[in-house]
Amino acid sequence: MNTTGSTASTPILEVSEVSKSFPASKDVFGRVVARLQAVVEASLTINPGETLGLVGESGSGKSTLGRLVMRLTDVDAGRIVLDGDDITESNGPELRAARRKMQIVFQDPQSSLDPNWLVRDIIAEPLRAYGVSRADRLSATERLLADVGLEHAHGSRYASEFSGGQRQRVAIARALALEPNLVVCDEPVSALDVSTQAQVLSLLEALRDRRNLAYLFIAHDLAVVHHISHRIAVMYLGRIVEVGPADDVYNRPRHPYTEALLSAMPNPKPASRRQRILLTGEMPSPVDPPPGCRFQTRCAHAMDLCRRVEPELVAYGDVEVACHLHDTGPELAGASVTEISRGRSAGSAAPAS
Ligand SMILES: Nc1ncnc2c1ncn2[C@@H]1O[C@H](COP(=O)(O)OP(=O)(O)O)[C@@H](O)[C@H]1O
Ligand code: SF4
Ligand SMILES: [Mg+2]
Repeated sequence: MNTTGSTASTPILEVSEVSKSFPASKDVFGRVVARLQAVVEASLTINPGETLGLVGESGSGKSTLGRLVMRLTDVDAGRIVLDGDDITESNGPELRAARRKMQIVFQDPQSSLDPNWLVRDIIAEPLRAYGVSRADRLSATERLLADVGLEHAHGSRYASEFSGGQRQRVAIARALALEPNLVVCDEPVSALDVSTQAQVLSLLEALRDRRNLAYLFIAHDLAVVHHISHRIAVMYLGRIVEVGPADDVYNRPRHPYTEALLSAMPNPKPASRRQRILLTGEMPSPVDPPPGCRFQTRCAHAMDLCRRVEPELVAYGDVEVACHLHDTGPELAGASVTEISRGRSAGSAAPAS
């Protein structure tokens, strides 16, 4: 697979066939009678210095996958390898050592930053937890404040006095305190206004390039993900349905779901403006996903095969896509799905209004 951000041969993160389900309902005896499949056999690789964007509608399993990577929740099946070490079942000191290498930034810094702490103490807390001396904590905190564009005086204030963008800078500084190699960014700019989004994205890019950081960058907004990512993975109802170089996925979507996400953007690119693909209906429940392809209930191209057989991710050059259009029917074989969408008007594909 192409890895434009890679600078070394060992991936910083390798996730193989990871699944996670949650109890969805219980009977009168408290026994679990239905489970919700939040993540199903998801695999991904991230190289040092690389950003993998993870995109999909709300409820598609992005945050759960991020939490699995961070080992904040245990996998049901699959493997997580961080910097060459299998951490799938690590706990105690082993997991603690792994946690130095990976950190997470959440969407809502308001709830993840203690309002009663000074910003300086919030940023220094991970260093204290890992036994760094007071003097070293102080100097590191000053450097981190400057690195995220905050001033010395900001350190003596409370995060609750800050704007959303400033609070996210504090959260980023805290995440970088232990000099991780990988940062999971879970919708880090989704709660910010557009101009602040751009500033925080630029900061994340600059920090990545300066520190050779790898990001798993989670967002529901494809434009944001495209802006920052080297590669993009598209998730639908717990499964990764397309993954490839960012420009490829953004400009030549192979999966009808990716195409629909692009088409739903407020300012689609000229190429996708010609044919607007409406994403109709709700995402089905992950408790009872449809048989065959999970996207079949909303796909304008669904065939009989799609209702029976779940498509596997198949590689076509640098891109992998899980859709029968590529291995049967019109046999797109890795070509952009817009090739056939242009000629269609049936189902959920309708001309742009
Ligand atoms: N702790 C949990 N218990 C039960 N269901 C959960 C839990 N966490 C997530 N889910 C469910 O898993 C699915 C995926 O959620 P999530 O990973 O948060 O998706 P996303 O981040 O893409 O919006 C959703 O249906 C959500 O309700
Ligand atoms: S496999 Fe079938 S239903 Fe699924 S996205 Fe492809 S064409 Fe649509
Ligand atoms: Mg989420």
